[in-house]
Amino acid sequence: MLLTQRQIKSFEQNGYLVLENFVSQEDCDKLRGRASKIVEDFDSSESVNIFTTNEQTRYSDHFFLESGNKIRCFFEEEAFDENGYLKQPKEFSINKIGHAMHDLDPVFDSFSRTEELGAVAKDVGFEDPRILQSMYIFKQPKIGGEVGFHQDATFLYTEPISVKGFWFALEDASLENGCMWAIPGGHRNDLKSRFFRNEKGDGTEMEIIDDSPWETSKLVPLEVRAGSMIVLHGLLPHMSHANRSERTRHAYTMHIIEGLADYPEWNWLQRPTEMPLRGF
Ligand code: FE2
Repeated sequence: MLLTQRQIKSFEQNGYLVLENFVSQEDCDKLRGRASKIVEDFDSSESVNIFTTNEQTRYSDHFFLESGNKIRCFFEEEAFDENGYLKQPKEFSINKIGHAMHDLDPVFDSFSRTEELGAVAKDVGFEDPRILQSMYIFKQPKIGGEVGFHQDATFLYTEPISVKGFWFALEDASLENGCMWAIPGGHRNDLKSRFFRNEKGDGTEMEIIDDSPWETSKLVPLEVRAGSMIVLHGLLPHMSHANRSERTRHAYTMHIIEGLADYPEWNWLQRPTEMPLRGF
């Protein structure tokens, strides 16, 4: 057991839990260094095509849908000018890296699988936690896009719903550079939509279950210092504004599901059988 009863209770009440000073400065630097190496080594020509051809949707769906067991870099929407050129250098144009860094990259793998994190997973209710996906989020200066209100279970669905997010601030996240916002207690609402692969398996669709607006009167910003970890319930509505500041807002995030839960074939993220999900 790593969390206190009070912390567990707070998580159950609010749907999120902030753990300050969870990650050392050294580990934050290590992950940042590794992410910048991945971006440096990334051949952007394939993705530049995605943003400059008129078959954009087909290419980008394909690039995204096949990233569940790969390490790929995704550009910010505003990264390109009207002629298809990057507005900022490559290292300031990537929105995120995803989605199997925790399996394929040794630095992220060892960060992601620790006894401590396994204990947090058990404390927040998992019996057989499995790491489903990982992302490195850059939230770039000036062009880092907004992420609208959503529940993570919309994108990572299991039956019963089990997904939880482990989010690590590798830099200070403030109002200025687009910190996360959440609705305390909002995880007690049902799932409002489901994102799935279409029947042909070559695109995605959103099924709206409940189109009522989010009840945002209790919305709070989760401003945290570098090294903080935030645990997010999969039904908790959360969002972040665009980053219009001069500085980045780097974060690493993993999503964990219950190994005993049913994982539907229509989820966008599918892993080949030879790459089964692992725990901590
Ligand atoms: Fe999210």
